[in-house]
This record gives sequence, C-alpha cells and structure tokens, in this order.
Amino acid sequence: CGITAYVGKGEALPFLMQGLSKLEYRGYDSAGVTVLKDGHLTTVKCKGRLTNLEEELKKYDMSGCVGIGHTRWATHGVPSNLNSHPHTNMSNTLSIVHNGIIENYRELKETLIEKGYTFKSDTDSEVVVQCLDYFYHGDIIDAVHKVLAVIEGSYALCIISTENPDKIVVAKKDSPLVIGKTDEGYVAASDTPALLAYTKDVYFLDDNDIAILTADSVSFIDKDNNPIEKEIVTIPYDMEAAQKDGYDTYMLKEINEQPHVINETLRGRVFEDKVVLNEIKDVDFSKFNKVYFVACGTAYHACLCGAQILERATKLPVITQVASEFRYNDPIIDEKTLCIYVSQSGETADTLAALRLAKSKGCTTIAIANVLGSTISRDADYTLYTCAGPEIAVASTKAYTTQLVLLTLLALYIAQDLHLDVDQDILNQLNDLPAYVENLIKDEELFANYAKMLKDKHDCYFIGRSLDYASVLEGALKLKEVSYVHADAYIAGELKHGPIALIEDGTVVIAVATQPHVAAKTISNIQETVARGADVILFTTENEEVNNVKNTYILPSINPLLQSVLVAIPLQLIAYHTANIKGCDVDKPRNLAKSVTVE
Ligand code: G6P
Repeated sequence: CGITAYVGKGEALPFLMQGLSKLEYRGYDSAGVTVLKDGHLTTVKCKGRLTNLEEELKKYDMSGCVGIGHTRWATHGVPSNLNSHPHTNMSNTLSIVHNGIIENYRELKETLIEKGYTFKSDTDSEVVVQCLDYFYHGDIIDAVHKVLAVIEGSYALCIISTENPDKIVVAKKDSPLVIGKTDEGYVAASDTPALLAYTKDVYFLDDNDIAILTADSVSFIDKDNNPIEKEIVTIPYDMEAAQKDGYDTYMLKEINEQPHVINETLRGRVFEDKVVLNEIKDVDFSKFNKVYFVACGTAYHACLCGAQILERATKLPVITQVASEFRYNDPIIDEKTLCIYVSQSGETADTLAALRLAKSKGCTTIAIANVLGSTISRDADYTLYTCAGPEIAVASTKAYTTQLVLLTLLALYIAQDLHLDVDQDILNQLNDLPAYVENLIKDEELFANYAKMLKDKHDCYFIGRSLDYASVLEGALKLKEVSYVHADAYIAGELKHGPIALIEDGTVVIAVATQPHVAAKTISNIQETVARGADVILFTTENEEVNNVKNTYILPSINPLLQSVLVAIPLQLIAYHTANIKGCDVDKPRNLAKSVTVE
C-alpha cells in the first residue's frame, strides 16, 4: 500500500494525489484522502484505480492545508469503498492512514465493541482510529503512545485530528515511512518517489519512532517520549528518471534501459584482472562455511543463478530459499554463515524478516538492493546497490538483470578474496554485456512474432537445466504475471516424470539450452516434446546441433555463466508482447503489487 501526508502553507490535495499516483505501483485496489479545513475533516475514498477517486473528488470541496492519502492493496477485507483508507472515528474528529498489519485487531475490535464502538469496515486498520478515539483525552501524542503500546504488528501511520488542526502525527514500525521537507512545509510518504517532485531532502524514520509535523517544524520522539535527533538526507534521484520516456509502458521502457543500467551496475567495479566491491572490503570471507541466498519473486530467481555461480567460483556450499520459507523453517545458520538477501525495493516484508532472523543468529548479512535508503539497506550489515534506477512496472525486468550482474560480481569478488583463481574470461566478457543486450533488444520484432504463438493459448511450458532452469522459472513468471497465460517451468530432465503428460498437439514449449555441459540433453528433451506435437521456441547457442525446431534463436556465444542475462531479454519481450496483444494492463497486472510490504 502507499501513504501520503501534507501539512504546509499550500493546498494539501495536489501533493497527496501526485504522491498516490507515484505510489500506485504499491497497490491499487482502492484509494482515498482526508483533508482538514475549518475544524472539519472531509474524507473521500473509492474502490479501484486512482482515476475513480479523482472523478469522485470533483464533487467535493477538498481545499485545506493538512491532509492524508492512501492507495490500498487489500490484506484484510475485500477492496471496497468502506474498507479503503483513510479511516475515521465515529465523531469524525480523527482520520488515519495505515500500512502494515495489526495482528491483534480482532481482540482489540471486540473490546472496543463492548465499550460501545461501532465499526464501518472489515479492516485491521480501523481499530487504530477507534483505539485512538478511546485513548484521546485532549493530548494526541499521549493517545498515540497508548495506541502503539496496545497494537501488535507492523505499521506506518499518519494521523490528523480536528483538535490539533496544525499537526500530522506519524509513527512507524516494520513498514517504511519517510518525511520530506519542502518550501511550503512538511510531507510524508511510504516511499521516496512520492516526494521527489516536491523535495529531495528527507528524514527516514526508524522503528518505534514518532514524528510530529507542522507547517514550519518537524520533531521526533521515541516510544518513551524522549526527543530524538535526526539528520536530513538528500536523495540523489530526479523525477525525470521515473517518467516513461516516450514508451507506451514502463515495462517496455525498463526493458530498453537494460544496456544502460547494466553498464551502471558494472561501472567502477570491474577492472582488467579483478572485481572491486568497496562496500564489502572489510568482510573476511574465509570465516564462512556456507552461504544462504534468500529473496522473493523475481529476486529469488536471480538468487538461483547467483548461488550456482558462487558455488562454482568458490566451492562453498550454497542454499537458496524463498524468504517466506526461510523465516519459518528454522534454518541451520550461525556466525559462520553468510546470508545474502536480494530485493529490488528493499521493503519486502518476508525478506526483511528473514534478514532479521539471520542477524539474530549472528550471521553476516549482505543485501543486494535497488532503492537507496530502503529498509533492507539500513538493516543489513552491508549493502551492494544495483544501479537500475526506479523500477515502476510491477513485473521486474531491469532490476532482475542488474541483480544477475551484481551477484556474478559478488561471486567473483568472494573467489578473489579467498585467493582462488578467477575466470579471466568472465571478467573480460562482463563489460561486453551491455552491447549484447542492446543487440538482442533490436530483435524485438522477432520476439513479438513468437508472442503471437501464445496469444490464444491457455498454457505454456518452459524447460531448461542448470542455470537455464533459473532462467525459465523467471521467463514463466514474467509471462504469467503480465499476460495471464498459465506458464510453468520445469527442469528438462524431469519432463518424463510427469509434465510430458501435458504436451499435446499445438502446446507451446519455450526451451533454453545455453549451458554446454547439459545443452545436448535439453535438446533431446525438446525432441520428445516435438514428437508429441509441441510447438517449440528454443534459445540456444551456435555450438548446439538442433533439428526439427523451426523457431530457434541463436544467442551470442559468451561465457555460460553470463547467459542468464542475455536470455532474460527475449523472455521478457515475449511476455510483454503476449500481454500487449491480449490488451492486458502490462504495468499494473491484476492482483499484484510492486512492493509487498505485508507478509
Ligand atoms: C513483488 C513484485 C515482484 C518482485 C517481488 C520481490 O511480488 O511484484 O516483481 O520480484 O515482489 O520484490 P523485491 O522488491 O523484494 O525484489
């Protein structure tokens, strides 16, 4: 979900709405705003996209210099007008927006109902405003402290009240919140892109911090009401980078940015005979006896590649796990374990929880993140940034390929640190990646033709072995996310153990065979699907001998460990064009959110 808040000398609504539009990628089931004027709160909220809210707002006088806004991705309660934020108390003197989950909301709700409160929504968030009402006896800060003491779970909260018309109170725990200082006053949001059009000067809140914003001041207190000092941080991005640049969709723009951002990620890190990663120069890698890679979604697929590369380069045993599993599986980890967390947003709740678990067991933690100042970068012992720039499309593309590149650098760096031989061949070819990627993008038309094979299909199967298996997992994820074609990825060697039963006349199989030690095996598996009527699209290299496969695309012959970066491009473009032909909303697929800040 996304949050915005404004208190200043100007009008609140323009800031709130532009911020929400920047945050729509965090969720878009419903949206709403409250503004405060002349001691009265006006709240307007609406199910569906932000445009619905914009229409609705035309019916109201929404002027006012204090306001809060929210765009929601449903966790408790279906998307509806009533379940949308902001939530207000019965006497309409308090209004709040909340990100996160209040875990004990049922108990709190029952207690409040016994005390005569009535609830309008099914959400966990509404208990916050009702509780606040219950504890409020003339001192809003005191009431906030009391509420925070009884709620369990995660929150980023912004609160306005008619009795304190010059203030916004904000609080944070396990859900991101950032405050910006503008020429007109102070603003807050769950994510920096919402602020950048107004300011680059921000304060990051830490867990359990409370901030009090007025038009001319900001102050911070801890949970015991002691004042805290915070430093202002200047964010280096500009808003230009977050615009579409003439492309129809963010996804296509971001696919096209890959040559540039891969270059940026390599910049200053690869030299003729070595990799330099200054951020982790103090780590003594010889003390580790195993490595965990942990992430969610696309970042997890990047980990599957990175882990194999690291294992081959260092001979250290590696385990790759999805964060939501790692955090509950009681992993066997200790101070000799290196844990690597990969997250584009740096805000994914499961990944953050998995990181905290490893820290509590004494592991060394390295985060690979894309968003500067994100929670993960502040929680991990060390952070390496991919330099993909803001990724707006829900389906990750440029973040994924830059993660692959950075994980490869990390593997080579660790090998170097352990005084192992580093493959010079890879070092030389890393710098060629941007040019290869650029050439692949030039074949977009061809990949759009492959997409035509898929447009009327219900299913599509992806197969590969070794590193290619990670690539096909990501290819299948991309296709299903944006085009809603049911796509599954299988290890080619497993076909005979079940999936081949699904192959019939006209089934589309997308195969990747770029790893020399197993490519011929995958190509035999392809023949087995062709024999059963499959229409195969194959990505391989010129070294492989292929018969009977009409749609074979030959990838450049580079070091096999780098092939995942190359094959990602056609698979992204096939997914993109399939979705496009089908008229899907490519940048905002149904039911998905860019940043999943709840468990
Ligand atoms: C969401 C996004 C995916 C992303 C995943 C992990 O599901 O839709 O594109 O891969 O979260 O996000 P992270 O920001 O941690 O990489």
